[in-house]
Amino acid sequence: MKKGIVSKIVAASLVGVMAMGLMACGKKQEESKSALDQIKANKKLVMGTSPDFPPFESKDTKGNVVGMDVEIAKAIAKDLGVELEIKEMGFDGLLGALQGKKLDVILSGMTPTEERKGAVDFSSMYYKTDNVFVVQEANKDKYAKIEDLSGKKIGVQKGTVQEELVNAKVTSPNVNALEKTGDVVMNLKNGKIDAVLLEQPVAEAYVKNNPGLALSKVTVADEVGGYAIAMTKGESDLQAAINKTLDRLEKDGSLTKFFEDANAAMGE
Ligand code: ARG
Repeated sequence: MKKGIVSKIVAASLVGVMAMGLMACGKKQEESKSALDQIKANKKLVMGTSPDFPPFESKDTKGNVVGMDVEIAKAIAKDLGVELEIKEMGFDGLLGALQGKKLDVILSGMTPTEERKGAVDFSSMYYKTDNVFVVQEANKDKYAKIEDLSGKKIGVQKGTVQEELVNAKVTSPNVNALEKTGDVVMNLKNGKIDAVLLEQPVAEAYVKNNPGLALSKVTVADEVGGYAIAMTKGESDLQAAINKTLDRLEKDGSLTKFFEDANAAMGE
């Protein structure tokens, strides 16, 4: 009798252990799915971006995120046969969100720097550019070379390459780093700062949309100088799929078209 109970208990706990083992196994399989398979299983590609960066990403009058990066992401999602979901956040929060698995990819005019490559993988580059200082139109000739900016109040977006470049290239800058590019530009308009460092097409977009601002003659080259799509490290099949779409978009002229359309749509 006693024996019977004991064996029943043993049997019951064995079943329990086995069930737990099975559950763990299922979970393990889920975790070991490649990022590409997971995106397909979820039927959506989650893109993170900081939409303060026209013509690559900005908000239209209806509040939709638009721009070249969005068009690229749409094409990738379409090729994968999934929907595109856009998550907005400050630029300095994007890499953490990707590493925390809250995003599948970052398309945010992100430069594939060596430092970032230590944490995430990048696609091939889809755009190349250098930097230029934006100033108030009245000060256009005052700032002709980088030395003229020594000790000046300079605005940058927090966590960007531009923040590093200003610290590296300008002598004792008074750096004003904010989360949103729009707020940095607003400070320049209000005369709270003297200049803003931006990549060329973004600088042109802000100048176009903000009368009273102008491009200075001071440019800053960047060795990497361009944009790529960030994704979790070691996901070679996702990287290959993304590069395949980028390659097609480059060859069939879509990348140029996305850029031109995004520029034309601005200020409408
Ligand atoms: N290319 C620069 C970087 O990677 C600036 C990017 C800012 N992007 C944005 N969507 N605000 O650091």
